Amino acid sequence: MKKIDLVIVDDEKNVLNSLRRLFRSETFGLFLTTDHTEAMEVLAQNPVKVVMSDQKMTKITGIEFLRGVKDKYPETVNILFTGYADLKMATEAINKGEVYKFINKPWNDEELKSAVREALNKYDLEEKNRSLTKNVKKQNKKLKKLYEAQKDFTLMVSHELRTPLAAMRMAVDFVMKESAGKINVKQKDLLGKASNSAGRLNRIIDDILEFSRLEFDVIHIKVKPNRIDKLIEEVVLSQEPVARGKGIDIKTEPDAGIGKVSFDRDRIAQVLNNLIHNAIKFTTTGGVTIKCVVDKSAGKVIVSVIDTGIGIHKENFPKLFKKFKRFSNVSKNREKGTGVGLAICKAIIDQHGGKIWAESKFGSGSSFHFSLAYDR
Ligand SMILES: Nc1ncnc2c1ncn2[C@@H]1O[C@H](COP(=O)(O)OP(=O)(O)O)[C@@H](O)[C@H]1O
Ligand SMILES: [Mg+2]
Repeated sequence: MKKIDLVIVDDEKNVLNSLRRLFRSETFGLFLTTDHTEAMEVLAQNPVKVVMSDQKMTKITGIEFLRGVKDKYPETVNILFTGYADLKMATEAINKGEVYKFINKPWNDEELKSAVREALNKYDLEEKNRSLTKNVKKQNKKLKKLYEAQKDFTLMVSHELRTPLAAMRMAVDFVMKESAGKINVKQKDLLGKASNSAGRLNRIIDDILEFSRLEFDVIHIKVKPNRIDKLIEEVVLSQEPVARGKGIDIKTEPDAGIGKVSFDRDRIAQVLNNLIHNAIKFTTTGGVTIKCVVDKSAGKVIVSVIDTGIGIHKENFPKLFKKFKRFSNVSKNREKGTGVGLAICKAIIDQHGGKIWAESKFGSGSSFHFSLAYDR
């Protein structure tokens, strides 16, 4: 059976006959009836696109019938046949969305044909939109599920890894300290390596957990008015021994006019620690300078950590703040990094609504800057 695209209802048989003749050469599926209840049955069984009805019928008016159609099948496009006497009612039905268009009786063949074609096109277009919207909604739902699954997985896994790892480190240290009996030098050396690797694994897990918590918005920053210059002094003081141990300088150059800036103290301390730690790590001669400049007109403070170290290749800049990216192999006997430090810095600065960026000349040093909104 051919599918039905267009249903026409008119209680005059001869009207239906001439309409059947008019649409004889059309390719769409056509169903004509004098009985509106039969039309409803056809609608129930077919995805009908367009319903056309006469207004003046003996059992029901066209508008009443089409209103019922619209109620049950809101997607169909309805056309009403009417005389001039019903113009007001027809316009009302159009305004209510029950009828798409009306056609005056007696009709003009070409006009009627083009009206039907237009209505069919309108249906097809709307149907396409509907399926596109449905697809987008489905995709969004899928993405959301995927995101939630990844979030749960990452947070759970990194959390679950810590306990057995801690037990393992404890056991290794216990044996290494000879608390479980004497061991020889070779054994001690091997356990030392195991202990170092376990320590490194622990740092990686901590970094992943920290980064995931930031990225998945599990932790929220708590901003309060704070003295950024005071915080810089504090962090520098704590890192001074490391710099001195390497024979490099570390100094601060704070701007004189710094008032209070709103930020999360612990988080920004973490950023400063990461940046200064890197600056010391990747510098062998010269030193590290920490600057803080206030740009009152832009409403910002810019903190800079400047070093005279090995620098960063231009090609590595786009990857610099992505996690697990490490470009320089400088640490021979120092702890190896995890490549998550800068990603954490960026997540923290992002949460503050600030910016973080770097400048470098390969071979002659790097500077890392971040901005924070200034309280005016
Ligand atoms: N001050 C710096 N000078 C030179 N290279 C740097 C500096 N800071 C970061 N980098 C490069 O960026 C990489 C990523 O840094 P980071 O995310 O802190 O990871 P990690 O310190 O664990 O290696 C480093 O491995 C290094 O290659
Ligand atoms: Mg680092």
